[in-house]
Amino acid sequence: MEKALSGIRVLDMTHVQAGPTCSQLMAFLGADVIKLEPPTGDVTRKQLQDVPDADSLYFTMLNCNKRSITVNLKNPMGKEVFSDLLKSCDVVMENFGPGVLDRLGFGWERVHEINPRIVMASIKGFGNEGPYANFKAYENVAQAMGGSMSTTGAFDAPPMATGAQIGDSGTGVHLMAGILAALIQRERTDKGQFVECAMMDCVMNLCRVKFRDHQRIERGPLPEYSIQKFEDFAPRAGNDSGGGQLGNAVPCKPGGPNDYLYVVVQEHVWKALAKRMGGDELAEDPRFIDINVRRKNQPEMWRIIGEFASKHTKWELMEILNEIDVPCGPIMSTDDLVRDTHVALREMVVQVPHPERGEFLNVGCPIKLSDSPVEVERSPLLGEHTDDILKEVLGYENEHIQHLRESGAFAKQPPKIEKYHELRA
Ligand SMILES: CC(C)(COP(=O)(O)OP(=O)(O)OC[C@H]1O[C@@H](n2cnc3c(N)ncnc32)[C@H](O)[C@@H]1OP(=O)(O)O)[C@@H](O)C(=O)NCCC(=O)NCCS
Repeated sequence: MEKALSGIRVLDMTHVQAGPTCSQLMAFLGADVIKLEPPTGDVTRKQLQDVPDADSLYFTMLNCNKRSITVNLKNPMGKEVFSDLLKSCDVVMENFGPGVLDRLGFGWERVHEINPRIVMASIKGFGNEGPYANFKAYENVAQAMGGSMSTTGAFDAPPMATGAQIGDSGTGVHLMAGILAALIQRERTDKGQFVECAMMDCVMNLCRVKFRDHQRIERGPLPEYSIQKFEDFAPRAGNDSGGGQLGNAVPCKPGGPNDYLYVVVQEHVWKALAKRMGGDELAEDPRFIDINVRRKNQPEMWRIIGEFASKHTKWELMEILNEIDVPCGPIMSTDDLVRDTHVALREMVVQVPHPERGEFLNVGCPIKLSDSPVEVERSPLLGEHTDDILKEVLGYENEHIQHLRESGAFAKQPPKIEKYHELRA
């Protein structure tokens, strides 16, 4: 079936989470994504394994709708196969550590020389230049260095990493925007280009409003924060709404770890909310009559809302508040989400059959296109499509494939490198 990215072929050398998030989204949207793996496989195939001898969920959930080919890029014949693949693809993607591609002999200049139309997309922790360029990075390193950890968590507690993988998956989504832009530009110029996303930069982009607050501090305390003592950096906001309206998570019945409802007290809903909680007396209470006094009296306002909330479950309270148009949302656990009818209806949780591990759950595609429906298909087994790709994409004959195989183009790495990957598994 015709899809938005039908006809776009992606050579995906990415590993772990950041790159595979991007290539999986492109595959969901119809690109032919060829995942090129070392003969030992993407390291996540064996990380956090829950079913013995089967690809882990870490791998299967990030590599759906792709094909897999194994090529040893440290072998001269493997390099030849790679060069041929570069000539047959629209995009090549990588998120290796700094310097890895140069050591393999496939930096941007060489890749551009091999195929001037190819878009090369790269993720690094900190980009290709600057004092941090040579550092490796993982999710929480990017969250730490991009401003997320210093602005997340309770005011008086240590910095906190968010559960949302903004460093890895967040960067993957940014990269996809860059790749699609480069493909559109190529329509006009007939030329590929280098697209680079640094994880630290992408986290900073997602922390944009924290830099808004950073600058406002110079002009005095920020009224929307519960704390009122500021230094010269944006503080941790706890669960404060962070926008122009007051908001917080209020504890509900029966008091479990996720029995909270996030409530935003918009200026124009306060009267109705106050009336529902405490009748006309509370609605007319001068301590809360407008947002300026409510800001000053926030702790008391939240105490009153919390007292009301504690008589209801988060679902009951959501219903009550939605009736009077108060923006709110229950704190959904992963279990709430996988059982939720709205989520199921939007195909944001899908069951995917897999030959080694049976059915597994995946999060669906959050980008919905009316003319490009997404069917989530299982992740490939290691090297499952090697021969198909060599024949169909590169037009290799059986004899040539056999010759390459004997030359070690698809074979495991020399023992030293193999050990290196095992140690990281
Ligand atoms: C994630 C990261 C920290 C992992 O570090 P690592 O496990 O040391 O892996 P590297 O990417 O540095 O190196 C991979 C090695 O495998 C080798 N390799 C990869 N694919 C290969 C293939 N098909 N054939 C042969 N060798 C291959 C590389 O050549 C490299 O070997 P070298 O160090 O001898 O040059 C690092 O890749 C990184 O910083 N990436 C950029 C930031 C990023 O994306 N981080 C988030 C990941 S979710």
